[in-house]
Amino acid sequence: MAAAREHWGSRFGFIMAAAGSAVGLGNIWKFPYETGANGGGAFLLLYLLFIVIFGASLILAEMVLGRASGRNPVGAFRLLGGGAWPGVGYLGVFTGFVILSFYIVIAGWTVAYMGFMLDGSLMSSTPEEIGAQFGGFISGGVTPVVLAGLFMAATVAVVLGGIGKGIERASKLLMPVLFLLLLVLIARAVSLPGAGEGIRFFLVPDWSKVTGATVTSAIGQAFFSLSLGMGALITYGSYLPKSTPMPGSAAIIVGLDTMVAVLAGFMILPAVFAYSLDPAAGPGLTFVTLPVVFSQMPAGTVFGFVFFALLFVAALTSAVSLLEVVVTYLVDETPLTRRQAALGAGLVCFGLGVPSSLSQGAVDIQVFGMDFLSAAAALTDLLLPIGGLLTALFVGWKLGPKALALVTDEGRQAFPLAHVWLFILRFVAPIGIAYVLISGLI
Ligand code: PFF
Repeated sequence: MAAAREHWGSRFGFIMAAAGSAVGLGNIWKFPYETGANGGGAFLLLYLLFIVIFGASLILAEMVLGRASGRNPVGAFRLLGGGAWPGVGYLGVFTGFVILSFYIVIAGWTVAYMGFMLDGSLMSSTPEEIGAQFGGFISGGVTPVVLAGLFMAATVAVVLGGIGKGIERASKLLMPVLFLLLLVLIARAVSLPGAGEGIRFFLVPDWSKVTGATVTSAIGQAFFSLSLGMGALITYGSYLPKSTPMPGSAAIIVGLDTMVAVLAGFMILPAVFAYSLDPAAGPGLTFVTLPVVFSQMPAGTVFGFVFFALLFVAALTSAVSLLEVVVTYLVDETPLTRRQAALGAGLVCFGLGVPSSLSQGAVDIQVFGMDFLSAAAALTDLLLPIGGLLTALFVGWKLGPKALALVTDEGRQAFPLAHVWLFILRFVAPIGIAYVLISGLI
């Protein structure tokens, strides 16, 4: 089975696909509103700290598991560990499923907002009207569900093409487009009069705003943003040829992801302050505050459309990786073909997305005292760090020195920081993640 496995066409293709997975709604939609709600610069610093101390090492750990096993997350833990370890893989596949179910809902909103920008309907509205339109749209019932379904269909279409012809080709096209769109928008945002205050808010930490909940959000955000803790990088790594060196690629992926999050902060927060809006507006920041900004900005229709197109592209390449985790698992472990797996998983996941979408006002669907979508999102903020913690324990202790042989392909590839990496996986990551999770819960 492993011998017939498809491989990425090039290292560049793999990096674009993995960066495409990492860069998504998490960077452009979630990161700026979390930063806005959590005191600006302090949240940024915590996020960067978690990325540097846990993120980079864990990304590499997942890639090692994928490349060494040539399997999906469940198969990788079974082959390399046995015992109860495949449970970590199952947890990852389950988490991927839950994330995708609400991810397509938000992604569907970006499609609607591309339309709202183009038809100019928000351009002459007051901020109150723009807020009301957002509330009316997401609670509207049928339209958001249909858009989530269409977005799911687009995701399935890419995954049906397989690794090289589907995911790699789409990522190599879409990621450069994404960077271009981002640059256009930043140039606009930082040149707005009054942008300076937003830049200061973003860069100067206000530690008085930091609570235990801030720290938990920052670690959840770091994992979510890097696509870490659910086997997405095990899955993508399993399509790597053995000859591809990994530490450099891991560093590039982390660097690109972090850069886009920081750039998104520079794109959104200065604009929010330039128009005296509330940075702590929460999940609506992107969908309410930014249209207000665009409506008051010269050529706002164009910039608004570009922004939501950017969000759509980023969401698509991430959704593709979420579905691919489930599809690779089904193809490896069951008799299903890629086609059956992609269509079936897409359909079931869409089914789970329907209550998420409806819970935004159309129907009262509560879980743990939260609406269905927020509950799904909160659950993943917990499951991803747990998955990351278990992965660190597995690679650091169960594989131990063998991990050093695997990461260097039996010494054939140089990795001067190999022992630092293993030390982080053994001690720093498990203790640090456990500490943050426990202190957030009590
Ligand atoms: N990293 C994506 C984002 O920032 O939007 C979300 C994500 C994709 C999480 C893939 C996990 C994953 F496996």
